[in-house]
Amino acid sequence: MKSVIDILDLSKSEIDSLIKTACDIAANPAMYADRCRGKKIATLFFEPSTRTRLSFEAAMLELGGNAIGFSEASSSSASKGESVSDTAKVITAYADIIAMRHPKEGAPLVASRSAGIPVINAGDGGHCHPTQTLADILTIYREKGRLSELTVGFCGDLKYGRTVHSLIAALSRYSGIKLVLISPDELKLPGYVKNEIIEKNGMSYRQTLSLDEAMPELDILYMTRVQRERFTDLRQYERLKDSYILTLDKLKNAKPDMSILHPLPRVNEISVKVDEDPRACYFKQVYNGKLMRMALILYLLETAKDKKREIPDYSGDGFIVNKLKCSNPRCICSEERELDQIFRATENGIYRCIYCEGKATL
Ligand code: CP
Repeated sequence: MKSVIDILDLSKSEIDSLIKTACDIAANPAMYADRCRGKKIATLFFEPSTRTRLSFEAAMLELGGNAIGFSEASSSSASKGESVSDTAKVITAYADIIAMRHPKEGAPLVASRSAGIPVINAGDGGHCHPTQTLADILTIYREKGRLSELTVGFCGDLKYGRTVHSLIAALSRYSGIKLVLISPDELKLPGYVKNEIIEKNGMSYRQTLSLDEAMPELDILYMTRVQRERFTDLRQYERLKDSYILTLDKLKNAKPDMSILHPLPRVNEISVKVDEDPRACYFKQVYNGKLMRMALILYLLETAKDKKREIPDYSGDGFIVNKLKCSNPRCICSEERELDQIFRATENGIYRCIYCEGKATL
């Protein structure tokens, strides 16, 4: 039985196979209409969502199954103090697969270690969002016909943008990817993504403050929202929120076949006038997300026929348990005090929390 907490939980060949299934679902939806008859997905959303929750539910309904769940923490027993682990154990009695969104980073990993059914990370704080990445990957594949030899610009909030972190990790598996990282200094990529994904995999990248300067070379422009909900200092949010606004005028310098992606929701970082431009792909991403979630549900339910969980072994050299603390206040271990605090050694001598990739402190 497999869970998907990080996009790297899926191999390149598994992603290729999901793309193939998603394209087949798009071409032959009737062939899939009964494939999950009698199955239930539980959507456990402790944080707001439109696309991810409803697309998981639509995906299961279109596969002939059913959906149960909640859309805010206040309507679950988390509001009474129930832990993520206990919630996951309880839901195992009611459903066949879980999609979980949580503001605390690492919460879906904690759930996957307790649940007796597959768990899908539907977004954990500013950390990861692997199924948005599946939507992004399918969109790039359908627009460009390939996932390699592309110059991809990421623009906006690269610090808290979990979709950015997951997509960069996925692209690290493909050849000839050049990254252009466009952000204010305050919203640059976290060190673990830059050092342990981009540099470790020898990916080509450069950082710039200027979208205008980067625009002409891009095959893909991945715009992001500056996320108010992740800031502890709202004055900083106010200062940074309008850093980049994509307009038709700015697109004059872009390639005629550049694809514009955005995980959505948008606020004002893409003018609505851009929506009519043929390069705008963000509403296609929404549809592609449903297709990939259908493919993922089918795949994970297949793996769940073998009840044995893939449990990583944290007892070896390279791991330190309960001797250090996580420095990230957004980590699930800051909320659930009885969780084992587990850190893995990285090549540059830093220990990082297995839940959120935060640095260890004493
Ligand atoms: N892209 C995305 O995760 O959207 P929602 O927050 O609406 O789910």
